[in-house]
Amino acid sequence: MTDTAPRGTRIAHIGLAVTTLDQILPFYRDILGMTEIPLDDADGARITGLIAGESLVELLEARTPESPVGKFVARRGPGIHHICFAVDDIDDTLARCKAFGVRVLDEIPRIGAEGKRIAFLHPASTAGVLIELSEY
Ligand code: CO
Repeated sequence: MTDTAPRGTRIAHIGLAVTTLDQILPFYRDILGMTEIPLDDADGARITGLIAGESLVELLEARTPESPVGKFVARRGPGIHHICFAVDDIDDTLARCKAFGVRVLDEIPRIGAEGKRIAFLHPASTAGVLIELSEY
């Protein structure tokens, strides 16, 4: 239970796998006019956040070829990597995913690039989309 009213699921960010962050960043920042915010590295990726209203775009550049983003880019090229949904209660949502038969990549939530608790769901269970759940 929380002492705040439920806010409902929203798109927290969209993760874009890029080959070279410094090359594509000026397009989003200078041409589309999005404000850059620093984010921590996560899962072997260097990450830059760009404010898009209530959501973020995260540009993910692999630090090593063995990282998840490195493997993704090698296999499929740059593109949309994952969608992150912020949910009111990540523990409850993750438990309901498991009960529903959704394959999870994180059995329990862990800390993500924004310093929030997150958990990934396997795309095989979600119509081919890598989904990240996040607390608000
Ligand atoms: Co993410």
